[in-house]
Amino acid sequence: MDLMTFIRRLPKAELHIHIEGSLEPEMMFDLARRNGVALPYASVEAARAAYAFEDLQSFLDLYYAGAGALLHGQDFYELAMAYFRRAHEDGVVHAELFFDPQTHTARGVAFETVLDGLEQAATEAKAQLGVSSRLILCFLRHLSEADAFATLEHARPHLHRIHAVGLDSSELGHPPAEFERVFACCRDLGLRLVAHAGEEGPPEYVREALDRLGIERVDHGVRAMEDPVLVDKLVRERVPLTVCPLSNVRLRVFPDLARHNLKRMLARGLCVTVNSDDPAYFGGYIAQNFLEIALALNLDRSDLVTLARNSLQASFTTRAEQAPWLAQLEAVAEA
Ligand code: ADE
Ligand code: ZN
Repeated sequence: MDLMTFIRRLPKAELHIHIEGSLEPEMMFDLARRNGVALPYASVEAARAAYAFEDLQSFLDLYYAGAGALLHGQDFYELAMAYFRRAHEDGVVHAELFFDPQTHTARGVAFETVLDGLEQAATEAKAQLGVSSRLILCFLRHLSEADAFATLEHARPHLHRIHAVGLDSSELGHPPAEFERVFACCRDLGLRLVAHAGEEGPPEYVREALDRLGIERVDHGVRAMEDPVLVDKLVRERVPLTVCPLSNVRLRVFPDLARHNLKRMLARGLCVTVNSDDPAYFGGYIAQNFLEIALALNLDRSDLVTLARNSLQASFTTRAEQAPWLAQLEAVAEA
């Protein structure tokens, strides 16, 4: 069996996917035309050509501009449905989707419009594809904590539809502790907690996200490897890290995949998972991330099984939900 077929057959969970980051240029142009929205590109080709990023911020500028094409519930539904179909082809059995409500409410799109569209797709994905999912509301860290609290107020009538909260956007200069009170409030409301930390930011941000926000998973976290004491803690407490190899290279966290630290993270005993982050912008969905990192770092098939197993166990699903996926995973591993 060739490597890509093997990867696709592994049942896996995707735990780090920004649904707005799955907006392919073709759909962006279709929606922009349908909605009468102007885009900063002349064509699909020009959009793709512009996806040459210097760092996280240069990506975020284009990512927020692209999200401007999304206006109606139907747009969010189509976006998420396209992602679920693509993820299903890659062997994703469960996905935990980040969404950035502030990007939309700031443009006059109602919080409910976003949530309704995403939820409709989630329901259909479960029924038609057998892919289960959860929604993770992300607060934008370049905005204030007061803005995050206002977003939580929008979310309050819908908390049964949202599983967790996260923290994303420009990391440098926006330490997690700025959001300590809103995360405490979310925890009291019964929401699970994750945060981006240690992508561009230093290991101290990872520590702060753990100790002051009380997060259960670290999104990215690759820079945690610079602090051996922190790594010991992450290993001891089995805190999962949602690593996104193609993203890290496109945003120049690593100069190339051969110099990515994922293999060293595995060797240290960290609970590493592989994810796509913003696949429409970074050149590949989850299976492509698995394939390229496996080839660049010479990972063997048992490493890929470990990464898939970690993703299932690190998800916010119950043990009962995980059991059939884990059994299927072991069957593929043995075949
Ligand atoms: N929003 C979308 N993708 C992101 C990333 N990789 N880091 C921070 N915020 C994001
Ligand atoms: Zn991300």
